Amino acid sequence: MQSFYDELAPYYHLLYPDWEASITRQSSGLAQVLREFGVAAGSAILDAACGIGTQTIGLAQLGYRVAASDVAPAAVARARAEAERRGLTVSFEVADLRQLARSMVGPFAAVIACDNAIPHLLSNAEIQRAFAECRRVLVPGGVLVISVRDYATIERRTPDHHAYGTRTVGGCTYAAEQVWEWDGDEYTLTLRLTEQCGAAAPVVHEFRNRYYAVAILTLERLLRAAGFTAVVRRDEDFFQPLLVAVNPPVR
Ligand SMILES: C[S@@+](CC[C@H](N)C(=O)[O-])C[C@H]1O[C@@H](n2cnc3c(N)ncnc32)[C@H](O)[C@@H]1O
Repeated sequence: MQSFYDELAPYYHLLYPDWEASITRQSSGLAQVLREFGVAAGSAILDAACGIGTQTIGLAQLGYRVAASDVAPAAVARARAEAERRGLTVSFEVADLRQLARSMVGPFAAVIACDNAIPHLLSNAEIQRAFAECRRVLVPGGVLVISVRDYATIERRTPDHHAYGTRTVGGCTYAAEQVWEWDGDEYTLTLRLTEQCGAAAPVVHEFRNRYYAVAILTLERLLRAAGFTAVVRRDEDFFQPLLVAVNPPVR
């Protein structure tokens, strides 16, 4: 899994029609939710699955004090370079969600893990452990915000092809597609990126990864089992459903 995102890091932005626009749109939706839960710009937050920095960069641009981590070192290196290029101050670490408190010194007013990072953990036990680690770095009353695919709405066909469309950058054309192959509640995702530069022969980059198609209702139950309260699903603020959960305030 880690090598998937490490190898993909130089190309990851090509999965978006316009990465800069997605940075702005996604962070604006997240900031709206964070504000509603009392986490205003200026607060210390952690993006615990930052990848190349899509949400990290946008939230830092909106004035949040962002720390960012991810299990994939090359993705973290790219996110760091992207933040520096934009003059943003963000502290980056390589860290696994399942051992977050070992590497990240909070406390944070919010922890986020967006764009279906959680289903990379392949069992309920691993997911609950990750949620418990997120709680450990949150202030009492702090919030965890995750975004996930709604697998209940996805028909399980094998193979299932999802095209991303074509992007042209600096004389090269990139066409990406995903192929999903189901195996019970898990599936293998193969991402094929075909790169065509000038008259050169096309180069096909292939990346493979595994997901657990965990239901949102199960995630809500695992959040409560990890000690979170006031777990809510929000469908209007982000391109994927968000789950927001509160670390109980100390009485
Ligand atoms: C689809 S990417 C999203 C990245 C970023 N949030 C974005 O939207 O650009 C999912 C991310 O989850 C990270 N991830 C998966 N398992 C993880 C784990 N156990 N600990 C930390 N990060 C993890 C991957 O390395 C990857 O960067």
